[in-house]
Amino acid sequence: MNHNKYLPIHKLIMSVAHATKIVDQAVFNHHQQVAYTTLRLARKLEYQDSSIHNLLVASLLHDIGMFAIASKIELLKFEYRHTKHADIGASLLEKYPFFPEAAPIIRYHHLAWQDGEGEFHGERSVPEESHLLHLSDRVSLMVDDKSNILDQKNNIINYLEERTPTVFKQKDLKALKAMEDDFWFSLVNPVVMRIELEDEFTKYDGFISKKQSMDLAKFYSKIIDYRSKFTSTHSLGVAKTARHLANKLGWPKEDLDDMELAGYLHDLGKLAIPSDILNKKGSLSESEYNLIKSHTYHTYHILHPIKVKKINKIKRWAANHHEHLDGSGYPFGLSSDKLCTGSRVMMVADKFTALTEDRPYRKGMSQKQVTNILNDLADSGKIDKGMVNLLLEDYNSFDHMRSEIQNNREKEYSKLVN
Ligand SMILES: [Fe+2]
Ligand SMILES: [Fe+2]
Ligand SMILES: [Fe+2]
Repeated sequence: MNHNKYLPIHKLIMSVAHATKIVDQAVFNHHQQVAYTTLRLARKLEYQDSSIHNLLVASLLHDIGMFAIASKIELLKFEYRHTKHADIGASLLEKYPFFPEAAPIIRYHHLAWQDGEGEFHGERSVPEESHLLHLSDRVSLMVDDKSNILDQKNNIINYLEERTPTVFKQKDLKALKAMEDDFWFSLVNPVVMRIELEDEFTKYDGFISKKQSMDLAKFYSKIIDYRSKFTSTHSLGVAKTARHLANKLGWPKEDLDDMELAGYLHDLGKLAIPSDILNKKGSLSESEYNLIKSHTYHTYHILHPIKVKKINKIKRWAANHHEHLDGSGYPFGLSSDKLCTGSRVMMVADKFTALTEDRPYRKGMSQKQVTNILNDLADSGKIDKGMVNLLLEDYNSFDHMRSEIQNNREKEYSKLVN
């Protein structure tokens, strides 16, 4: 196994961006639309390939910090300073070394140009890509994909022109005004945008090493978990519990790493669920629950287009965590003959973590309660009895390990959002 070429990073971030809802349906596709706009504008402005690459990565991730605060208001109000979500997004990304150039672009993506003053923020210089991203972001937020796009073009341009050069750069606006009709048509065509962005990415070697893949998965686990204060450390707990359980089964290290990685990504599909639902206090309506149920379906289909062998098992382990051995789970209704050992590990790890972790509205359950629930699920044929026994035999070591790392992550989360 070549550890230097582990996962295709561009495919992964493209696929996540494609499925992601920032806040709700109204801004579905936002990351992809912004990336496509920056690509077309950067080409017209004759940016170098390396700048285009950084800009695309930054565009596909620019509002990730929004997940941590889930503020619809902050996204939709037209703010021209560097807002909290931009800071959070940049800080999250800075921790991981795969795209160092993208972080500063994200940090300043709401900064006004102010007739040139926006070249700096305090002592720090602001990348010109930030300003282009800012303009593209506003274009995306003004687009109504239900009505004819060419009818909207003048309105959008006029709006931006009134704010140039106070908010936007003359040069960037000029490039937008010169954009051909096909740009506008593609802007409301997610399939075309995805193909063109993927084509652009084939220019760059998109594979990252095993270590970087783990970092990327951890980075995404934060974005997933931080979307809701109720589950701010859940994926981390699941990843570590699943790894511990697989270790008890005597798996080789290589597979343990893949299991941990799958744990970080198991709820990836929650990025496709509106955050109001994930954050809803009190019980969910039937229809809201139905929507939540789609998250493992999305986990599967976000990972599915990434056609490397490695992803196949990770995708299965991650997306099968709400299946049941008797076929009563979701989304595929798989039964025991179709549920591999790795999937069974994840099913147990997910339940154990969900029951034991503290939530803002309740403490984690006691050992006795957890034991009863897991035994009931195993006895009724939902989850693997042998796996449950293995975990319960060594309950304290599982619970101690899980609570310690989740507590640390909780502190990190509080620091970030407060
Ligand atoms: Fe933003
Ligand atoms: Fe945005
Ligand atoms: Fe889940």
